[in-house]
Amino acid sequence: MTQTYKIAILAGDGIGPEITEQALRVLKLIEQKRDVKFDCVDAEFGACAFFSTGKSFPEETKAICTSADAVLKGPIGLSHEESEKIPVEERPERGALLPLRRHLNTYANFRPISLPKGMAHFSPLKAEIVGEGIDILLIRELIGGLYFGGKERGVTEDGKRYVKETLEYDEDQIRQIVTVAFKESMKRKKVLHNIHKSNVLVSSVLWNEVLDEVAKDYPEVTVIHMLVDAAATYLCLNPGQFDVMVMENMFGDILSDQGGGLLGSLGLMPSACMGPEKAYYEPSHGSAPDIAGKNIANPYSMIGSVALMLDMSFNMDAEAKAVWTAMQSVFEAGYSTSDLSAAGANIELLSTTEFGDKVIAALEELL
Ligand code: IPM
Ligand code: MG
Repeated sequence: MTQTYKIAILAGDGIGPEITEQALRVLKLIEQKRDVKFDCVDAEFGACAFFSTGKSFPEETKAICTSADAVLKGPIGLSHEESEKIPVEERPERGALLPLRRHLNTYANFRPISLPKGMAHFSPLKAEIVGEGIDILLIRELIGGLYFGGKERGVTEDGKRYVKETLEYDEDQIRQIVTVAFKESMKRKKVLHNIHKSNVLVSSVLWNEVLDEVAKDYPEVTVIHMLVDAAATYLCLNPGQFDVMVMENMFGDILSDQGGGLLGSLGLMPSACMGPEKAYYEPSHGSAPDIAGKNIANPYSMIGSVALMLDMSFNMDAEAKAVWTAMQSVFEAGYSTSDLSAAGANIELLSTTEFGDKVIAALEELL
């Protein structure tokens, strides 16, 4: 019997719909070539949802996500001026994205910082530092820490405005995310960088304690403890030393964007958000309102999110590999888009749709 997967499609804001369109072409092609059916259901999410329904994460979308086998989500958000038109609590980041993460319980965020050799020229780092490319798996805890801790804003008795924002974890939350990191390390080079700030934060002291306990179950994995500020430096000086990295939510937010910098663009960063039952897939970048609707955004992060979905939710790792290979071959053949590259002797700039055409053509050959 044909295997059917239901996928909730949250195309999002800005460049979301145009790059999602290219990602859907990839799913369609796989349907044609394999005995599988993807039942894709569109749902409103983000600023566009707010303007049409008054909610940035409508109940109907929530229900579609709950009943889906996986969720494919585009970037959300608006320019600063447009955002101001939405009440603070309904702005897409606070009103939609964080509630989605909590709703689906996707505590483990996989952010591959990856540039194969043939794309190494995208990195702004010197060729001798990039070497054969970059291949890091950054694992970010996604539903705890500073993002989800208690928040308070007020005025003191003597009239001063103040805020209080707390970084909260219990040992179970830490154990579940570091266990994911150890398991991934076992599949890769068996080197795990634990990123922390235990010289200042007591939350990191508990984090490290729990990680050391879990480490006993994975004696083959070499653990390297590294302060988060030092990690920021070493990512630039010697990215090759890292394989799997694990860290608290906020540290992961910041270092994963630095990862995008190492690759040359956040546009090259798809991601997977995994929970015990549900998973959703999204680019790590924003909705780029400045280039939205111009058909110039590169769809790599969205198509890459589909590749992660095929591999991690549907056990279709061969097809996932084919998608990566197809996308990389388009860059290797000298094509790019103007959000990533300047035109040059060896680079021909394509539109979003044309880039999608090339990926589809390459993938046809591989499937
Ligand atoms: C990310 C984004 C989000 C985050 C924003 C949009 C709330 O920066 O996914 O990294 O901070 O987690
Ligand atoms: Mg971020």
